[in-house]
Amino acid sequence: MNSFEYYNPVRVVFGEQTLNRVGETVAAYGKQALLVSYRNVSFMTKTIDRIHNLLERSGVSCVDCFVASANPLIEEAREGIELGKKHGVDVVIGLGGGSAMDCAKAISAGLLYGEQDIRNMFVFSHTEVKHIPPVKALPMVMIPTLPATGSEMNLCAVLTDGSTRRKSYIWAECLYPQVAIIDPEMTVSLPPYQTACGAIDTIAHVAEAYFNGNDSNLILQDKMEEGVIRSVMETLPVVMENPNDLQARGVMLWAASIALNGWVNSGTMIFTPMHQLGHVLSARFGATHGATLACLMPAWMRFRAAQGGEAARRCEQFARKIFDCPLLEAADKFEAWMRSFGVQTRISEFGVTKDDVAALAEQVREISFNGDDVLGSYPAITLEDVKTVYTLAL
Ligand SMILES: [Fe+2]
Repeated sequence: MNSFEYYNPVRVVFGEQTLNRVGETVAAYGKQALLVSYRNVSFMTKTIDRIHNLLERSGVSCVDCFVASANPLIEEAREGIELGKKHGVDVVIGLGGGSAMDCAKAISAGLLYGEQDIRNMFVFSHTEVKHIPPVKALPMVMIPTLPATGSEMNLCAVLTDGSTRRKSYIWAECLYPQVAIIDPEMTVSLPPYQTACGAIDTIAHVAEAYFNGNDSNLILQDKMEEGVIRSVMETLPVVMENPNDLQARGVMLWAASIALNGWVNSGTMIFTPMHQLGHVLSARFGATHGATLACLMPAWMRFRAAQGGEAARRCEQFARKIFDCPLLEAADKFEAWMRSFGVQTRISEFGVTKDDVAALAEQVREISFNGDDVLGSYPAITLEDVKTVYTLAL
């Protein structure tokens, strides 16, 4: 295991009915809240009314900021910043999945970013260090309604620049929320497709470390990651069958939080190459994040199998431990399992053709390749490798 430094200051308030604590929680940080959520919130008006009432009872005024789309745009965060400035907000609430929470993070940091353009916060190139990460943000309280990104408990936000269709991230310590209120009831009305895509995203977060972390002694991390994957694979069919099973909903939420709060990948190299390929698909084809990973994970396993030797070893271990079979057979089983929940497992289903592969790969290179002209991974990924993976995913 590599040396590492670990820090995570997020207070977690977990359990059924914990939403009832939103008033007192937010009041500890401010009196004028900005409630950031999706552009279309018609599916959760009851929750929003409840939050309004709870805030009011605690003496907190609330400004609604429903600006985030499914792949949130920097332009949408700018709208939120303007609204926040106009109303002099002093605390930000993120309500929703990763899209809403990440938008809330960009707004929260953007409100204290002076006159600079918030685009400068984002890492749009790994070879030219042009970005200026934010160093402060308004206090944030996150209320996840979708188990997936773990944004409620980490320091990252992913948004897309609408003018260039480039999706990338901010990584800054000030983006840790102060509190995450994780109430399983918030997820019971999630549509099945979103539930499945969120579960697959959670699996992908630990699979990134499992497939591509490094090859040192990872006994503890492997077992934690296998535990997260097994827990999600066990509970997804349960919530699909019974959406009101709050125990299972709670498992999925907590699995999503710990998959990306730094615990399971501490001591590994923190590479996310599959996500980098997925972000380009989302930015250019509007593909749902979890669905891009449902396409890329089996393709990645087949790619590593073709490389063979040391390059395939981590994926072979995953195949044995999770599916109890050889790697290529595991890739087929994994793909069939994800498809059984109605999630796309082929990028051609988003409209991608083989003629798009070179341009997609080039965009991955522009945004995510490092100074050695490879994509960070163990082993590293070349431009030709990226094209191979996209082709295997067609
Ligand atoms: Fe993800």
